[in-house]
Amino acid sequence: MEFKDHLKSSVDIVSVVGEYVRLQKAGSQAYKGLCPFHNEKTPSFNVHVTKQFFKCFSCGAGGDVFEFVMKIEGISFYEALKSLAEKNGIPMPKRSIVADEDSKLREAVFHMHELAQESFRASLKEPVGEAARAYLVRRGVASETVEQFGLGYSDRSGRTFLRLFEQHRFTAAQIEESGLVRKRDDGTFYDYFRNRLMFPIHNESGKIVGFGGRALSADDNPKYLNSPETPIYKKSRLLYNLHRAKEAIRKEDQAILVEGYMDAIGVTAAGFRGVVASCGTSLTTDQVKALKRFSPRIVVNFDPDAAGARAAETSIALLLEEDMQVRIMELDGGLDPDEYCKERGAEAYQERLHVAKGYFYWLADRARKKYDMHTSEGVVAMLKFLMPAVQRVSDKLERMAIANDLAGYIGVERGLVLDSFRKAISERQESTFQRPKIEIRPDERVLLNAVLSGDEISGEIVRELRSIDTVERFTSRRIFHAVFAIEAAGEPLSFDQVNARLEEADRHLLAEAVLREDVQFSREEVLAAIESMRRSETQNQRVQLKTRIKESERGGRWEEALRLTSELQQLERAGRERR
Ligand code: CTP
Ligand code: MN
Repeated sequence: MEFKDHLKSSVDIVSVVGEYVRLQKAGSQAYKGLCPFHNEKTPSFNVHVTKQFFKCFSCGAGGDVFEFVMKIEGISFYEALKSLAEKNGIPMPKRSIVADEDSKLREAVFHMHELAQESFRASLKEPVGEAARAYLVRRGVASETVEQFGLGYSDRSGRTFLRLFEQHRFTAAQIEESGLVRKRDDGTFYDYFRNRLMFPIHNESGKIVGFGGRALSADDNPKYLNSPETPIYKKSRLLYNLHRAKEAIRKEDQAILVEGYMDAIGVTAAGFRGVVASCGTSLTTDQVKALKRFSPRIVVNFDPDAAGARAAETSIALLLEEDMQVRIMELDGGLDPDEYCKERGAEAYQERLHVAKGYFYWLADRARKKYDMHTSEGVVAMLKFLMPAVQRVSDKLERMAIANDLAGYIGVERGLVLDSFRKAISERQESTFQRPKIEIRPDERVLLNAVLSGDEISGEIVRELRSIDTVERFTSRRIFHAVFAIEAAGEPLSFDQVNARLEEADRHLLAEAVLREDVQFSREEVLAAIESMRRSETQNQRVQLKTRIKESERGGRWEEALRLTSELQQLERAGRERR
């Protein structure tokens, strides 16, 4: 068996996909969830338990476990293989699988990050880490938290990594791409991070892809120095702490979004595990999509300054675009989330979380401060300010409900203005995208499932089907051709085998046939279906022959009429014998 097949048979696609998508059981053989590859509100994403494939009936994405990992992580086949093998403790054969150049480079950069992490952590414990340790104590970061988040220290020398990486035989080109060193004009390298408290940044599957380095004193600028983009670090895709937080987000059905590394760490340490940080950059669609796979509910908890409020405002727009349910959490006393947890305690933070307002009430509060509600200009300006946010809610009824709530909350009785506000909200351009549906007949579905059941009868069915012309009129005929070809070659009939021989459109049909059919049919039922197909086929032929006989007789072509009549008799005799 090829390594790929061996690996595939030892991992379960349901649990792999389940790491990224909330799945629910749908029938005995399938799970359903919201598609991670496009934006949707009702689930059309399916995972088949026994046939081990996924399929979205809305955007069309589909494939096996490798294709899923490749697509969701944006990685190559080799990397998907490697990552699944590692996670399942199955050793990769050294020789047989060759990595492409890009994968090799990324593998090297990942490795350098692991080495860097070991080095940073060691330095924090050594005498050179004295100042960094003192800083952590001063900020009230417990040693378990330091461990949990893998915090470290980059020393002042600037000469640590070049030597380390050369010892491990990385090439100069690989070292340069790592983002962990910088090149001087004379071509020599020095460490990118020096004398900083180091925060490792992990991707969703828990591998280190970059670092944030905090200055230890206020006069060291910038306050944070972050890894540049590298072949393994795409900032727009990453949320700090997501790999630790995702289980809690899924369980509690809610994510907390904060701005900074220290906030994510402080809030987690206070016992709120479903927290991620956007790391000072504005939120991106990709980040929201990643969150949404675990929960559609989010509480935005940014710093209590003007910049934080502005950032929250921008985030709301983006979050609504992705149909997230957004609340805004406000902290008093000018404290950021980390400080709040430390000064006021977990219970107080829990209370603020509990009373966090729906985003539109929060926006309305902000607007009230901005505009004078006693003038009609003020009211119009305010509604204009609120309109875009409400307009982004994709569900019309929900949008209308919010418009009404808001009208009430603002508390102005300006009938006309409010009416036009509601009207504008109700008239949003709806864009609905639907794939054209190709139907597959119920009897085709029954037969396909029987053929792929892996039972003894599948061979028998295939032989029966070969002699039935009706198959040629099936929408799924090309799938049956693949089945016939596999059987003729004496290979085992399996979903994967058949699927591998199909073009995209037929893969879609096959997935549909397999996912829509939840019942297992008995041998008798399947054979009965074939028999009825054969009967209706004979019936058709009989009707056709009779018409042609009549036509020949009418045209005086007696010889032809006679030949057709004997054909008809033969057909009827054959039919009687079978019964
Ligand atoms: N940030 C950055 N570069 C800066 C300042 C901030 O990349 N020069 C990012 C960091 O990811 C930081 C986040 O923006 O975590 C939020 O900034 P800030 O609130 O200043 O940092 P905190 O995480 O709160 O850190 P601290 O409590 O140490 O001030
Ligand atoms: Mn902060």
